[in-house]
Amino acid sequence: MKKESFSSKDFNKIVDSWAVDTLGSIGVFEGSNPKFEEFKVKIIAQLKAQYSNKTIEKFLNPVDSRQIELPDGYAKITGSCGDTLEIYLKVVDGKIIDASFQTDGCNPSIAAGGMITELAYGLMTSEAGFTQQDVLDALGGLPYENEHCALLAVDTLNEALDNIKGNVLS
Ligand code: FES
Repeated sequence: MKKESFSSKDFNKIVDSWAVDTLGSIGVFEGSNPKFEEFKVKIIAQLKAQYSNKTIEKFLNPVDSRQIELPDGYAKITGSCGDTLEIYLKVVDGKIIDASFQTDGCNPSIAAGGMITELAYGLMTSEAGFTQQDVLDALGGLPYENEHCALLAVDTLNEALDNIKGNVLS
């Protein structure tokens, strides 16, 4: 929702913590493995080769991944990949004053859900029309095989907006 400044220090911290957790999950721990630092550098490089910094930030720090109680607009869509994205909107006098998402999908779907809710936050509902390319551009791109995750986010936001108009939940 709110566009918070995320410093490069914050970014490096979440990436480092992701690397420590990822290595820990396969039994590689700092102090007990002399190659720990080498492995850490390697998996961080692989992550950055796959995703833009903005995409990484969005899925490692999904601040808007939460429910909104009694949303004014809501939609839940399952994409062709089988993953589901939900979007919640709170609207006052036509303005989106809160937006959030939840997904059981891949990291790019978390990033796309977070990005589209950030893009929509603070706009009038009539202004909150986005394309798949808008989301991809805002994320600094996604791997080709994950570009559909951005479309799922757009489709879900559009349906949530339609549901406000149709007073589905109000
Ligand atoms: Fe299904 Fe990303 S939303 S693979």
